[in-house]
Amino acid sequence: MDHFLYRGGILHAEDVALTEIAAAVGTPFYIYSSATLARHFRLFTEALTPLPHLVCFAIKSLSNVAVLKTLGDLGAGMDVVSIGEYLRARAAGVPGDRIVFSGVGKTRAEIRAALEGGVRQFNVESEPEMRAISEVAVSLGTTAPIAIRVNPDVDAQTHAKIATGKSENKFGIPISRAVPAYAEAARLPGLRVVGIDVHIGSQLTELSPFEMAFRKVADLTETLRAQGHRIERLDLGGGLGIPYARSNEAPPLPTDYGAMIKRTLGHLDCEIEIEPGRLISGNSGLLVAQVIYVKNGEGRDFLILDAAMNDLIRPAMYEAHHDILPVIETAPGEPTRPFDVVGPVCETGDTFARGRELPLLAEGDLVAFRSAGAYGAVMASEYNSRPLVPEVLVHGDQFAVIRERPTFDEMIARDKLPRWL
Ligand code: LLP
Repeated sequence: MDHFLYRGGILHAEDVALTEIAAAVGTPFYIYSSATLARHFRLFTEALTPLPHLVCFAIKSLSNVAVLKTLGDLGAGMDVVSIGEYLRARAAGVPGDRIVFSGVGKTRAEIRAALEGGVRQFNVESEPEMRAISEVAVSLGTTAPIAIRVNPDVDAQTHAKIATGKSENKFGIPISRAVPAYAEAARLPGLRVVGIDVHIGSQLTELSPFEMAFRKVADLTETLRAQGHRIERLDLGGGLGIPYARSNEAPPLPTDYGAMIKRTLGHLDCEIEIEPGRLISGNSGLLVAQVIYVKNGEGRDFLILDAAMNDLIRPAMYEAHHDILPVIETAPGEPTRPFDVVGPVCETGDTFARGRELPLLAEGDLVAFRSAGAYGAVMASEYNSRPLVPEVLVHGDQFAVIRERPTFDEMIARDKLPRWL
């Protein structure tokens, strides 16, 4: 459930009409609902209660500091994959002991900065990285808390570009090598083993791949404990999918996911960490755009929007479906027709949807892409010299621009001419 509903015939974000925001901010823009973010975060904490747990929001899905503060103020931890994300979490007031540092290629500079600033744990993805973390920790006269990300060789049954738990993927240390890897970690002077980490992919719509991976983690916990390792925390990653096409998708709910975690890992007396991104941010955000032209093509009609693939790349990159809603509600029974919904960018990949049944929209009408909160704004670029679109946060009947639209001058002023030109 989200807080984007029609009221009086106009799509609202909580208590604010999207037409009002469009008039104030211009289109396109991203809009996020504080109440939806909070609700989704609480669903996870409730699902894991009474197990000791920390829900670490995967910042990569939506990294605006105002969003992070909304969640951080509720007690959320953060999962970061770069020092840039770490600094965003800190800028949002999240203490280091609630920040988990994941990612396959942490540099020594990133490791140092996180150790100096405070970090809950590093999720280690390879033996060389483990050695680097130890070296940096020793040079700072400290020890680094670590979990090793194991690759369980489980098929997440999701889009190939976002599956991470098969042995052919670049992520983690193969679970078959976990025992020697933990033995080496225990020997390294700068490391303190605190747990095990696993993340098998994103947009999973079944629980069974998770369960298969978590059972392997449960077995590994017992094996490692028998060898004298202190396994106090299990970080289970993120990945729970959301319904993108509301009419026919019903992925498992956080309560089902929580019940499965309790069933498979509850007996181990570990603190559970999870790293959900999409399920918290995805349906908390919309991308709002305006129709520039309706173009009648050969046997098809194009709805040309002022938003493009540079603003929301998911359809072009993952063949992803996003529901498209007219901001002004159409009455039931009003005619619809199929449109190819496209942006102005100069490539055919700049297509949001093909043959989508929509009401008879016209120039100037507003539309909203649903489920655009996750991996929307964060993956945007300035391709075709289109400035990044602004982000707006709604809280009840208030809204605020939480990232401004840059001016063209600001965008161009970042380029510098060399001396010889
Ligand atoms: N933890 C780790 C280590 C991850 O790599 C990811 C996502 C997450 C947590 C959060 O996963 P989530 O709960 O959001 O599924 N850009 C793609 C998704 C990439 C996911 C990358 N890793 C998309 O738009 O679908």
